[in-house]
Amino acid sequence: MTRILSAVAWPYANGPRHIGHVAGFGVPSDVFSRYMRMAGHDVLMVSGTDEHGTPILVAADALGYTAKEFADQNNRLIVEDLVALGLSYDLFTRTTTRNHYAVVQEMFRTVRDNGYMVEQTMLSAISPSTGRTLPDRYIEGTCPICGYHDARGDQCDNCGNQLDPVDLIDPRSKINGEVPQFVETTHYFLDLPALAEALGKWLDGRAASGTWRPNVIKFSQHLLEDIKPRAMTRDIDWGIPVPGWEDQPTKRLYVWFDAVVGYLSASIEWARRTGDPDAWRQWWNDPEALSYYFMGKDNIVFHSQIWPAELLGYNGEGARGGAPGTYGTLNLPTEVVSSEFLTMEGKQFSSSRGVVIYVRDVLSRYQPDALRYFISAAGPETQDSDFTWAEFVRRTNGELVAGWGNLVNRTAAMIAKNVGEIPAPGELEPIDVELQGTIRDGFATVGGLIEGHHQRAALAEAMRLVGEANTYVTRTEPFKLKAPEQRARLATVLHTLAQAVSDLNVMLSPFLPHSANAVDAVLGGSGDVAPMPRIEEVEDLDGGAPYPVITGDYGRGGEGTLPAWGPRPVTVGAPVAKPTPIFTKLDEDVVDSELARLRAEG
Ligand code: MF3
Ligand code: ZN
Repeated sequence: MTRILSAVAWPYANGPRHIGHVAGFGVPSDVFSRYMRMAGHDVLMVSGTDEHGTPILVAADALGYTAKEFADQNNRLIVEDLVALGLSYDLFTRTTTRNHYAVVQEMFRTVRDNGYMVEQTMLSAISPSTGRTLPDRYIEGTCPICGYHDARGDQCDNCGNQLDPVDLIDPRSKINGEVPQFVETTHYFLDLPALAEALGKWLDGRAASGTWRPNVIKFSQHLLEDIKPRAMTRDIDWGIPVPGWEDQPTKRLYVWFDAVVGYLSASIEWARRTGDPDAWRQWWNDPEALSYYFMGKDNIVFHSQIWPAELLGYNGEGARGGAPGTYGTLNLPTEVVSSEFLTMEGKQFSSSRGVVIYVRDVLSRYQPDALRYFISAAGPETQDSDFTWAEFVRRTNGELVAGWGNLVNRTAAMIAKNVGEIPAPGELEPIDVELQGTIRDGFATVGGLIEGHHQRAALAEAMRLVGEANTYVTRTEPFKLKAPEQRARLATVLHTLAQAVSDLNVMLSPFLPHSANAVDAVLGGSGDVAPMPRIEEVEDLDGGAPYPVITGDYGRGGEGTLPAWGPRPVTVGAPVAKPTPIFTKLDEDVVDSELARLRAEG
């Protein structure tokens, strides 16, 4: 049993999430966490909404809300969507809790006391017409590195490099198009050069493990080549107050020293809520514990440079030495598991241009496991991939319905019609033993692939085994075993099939948790093989406003009702009734109607 931290990127609370978001951070982290729990590990899966910063402030302003009101609304929408998708967070919280503020400030003070935070004066952009700070993301211009015309002030989405807005060629404000004015302002900078050697050592060790995706490790090592201090504060009045600058309410901590610290603060909040306030230390202080960070590729900088640098600074492990604060020596990431981008009908997602499909809309019309299946089978695991409605329909009908759904339905229907319950097997023939063996071996293969973050291959292998089971039906022809002297053989074949479906169901449950429960119930089980998250309305632990969280009882370290990763004998005599199909077959006109909807919104 290993302690595993599943650290899932914190979505901005600036609007509902689209399927590109959940393809990046959502479904992959859930598949991994569900599998690791079943494999007997003690998983802590945490995240929350990222509620500070300019996008939220600007959007709230435009709507006439306060930033907090706007964040409250979006936090709730996001929480509802992630639960509907079945994402099994131990705690999904938010960055506006008092606990988060306190943890961030403790981190900041210690990093500063250790000498890794330096005050520097910099040029910052303001809007000449309003006098307000224009944050990096709200300045656009030509990338000085690759020449891309729509680079953002903080980062170029074309070449992936971090930028300074002042370096942009022909800068313009994204809010009103005016040319920003650059004025002098003082900020706290994280002294990345003083942490670079320690960072490099850590990354070399990670590279040597050979488990990171090649493009993620390459990108991360490349970032070290041109490392410089980075501002961790901003001129904005919405965010976490900067320790020591309480008298300057228009300066707040930036997302790089806010949301990323959420992994730690959420772990602490989770522990406090379980009644064992030090429980988080098992994931953060024990060097044997492993931590996996899940995100889309625009977040690699956060997780392979900024956050590890902050942890090293906190631990006192940079060039200036120092000593850890009250949290003790904290673990650095074991692995940064980044996906690439999902596009939509060949285009980049863009809410403003209407090239978008929200999780909520998909879930209002289709089954959550159909979306999870598409993302797991065809998502942007190691290269960009494209979501098209035609492919969604093809995968759903051709693979989920005609492959897995058909196997479940015909198995249950034949058992219901001929026996009414799971029959006891007679003597096994070689073909029965062979199927059992093939599927049993699948657990090691599929599990190994999920553990190595090859989820597409893992699902493909599980579906190949579904195909084997369907072939077994074709070869044994149980529907033809009608004569009285064939009863015993029929019982054996149906038992073998029921066992195969049950095993495949366990194997598919990390990908398809909703239908896993339905399949289990069809075979006379209790329908709870895949534990589901729930929304709880909780009090702020430190006197702030109440808020909704995602949590659940998923079993930990092999305890609880969770089935272990491996075959479990089916219960002979469990009642099996005539099934209704688990998966809904989609009409071919889904493609046309969805494309028409897109055009209408775009
Ligand atoms: N909310 C930010 C984004 O979506 C940052 C998420 S990663 C975190 O880009 F580490 F900050 F949580
Ligand atoms: Zn560029």
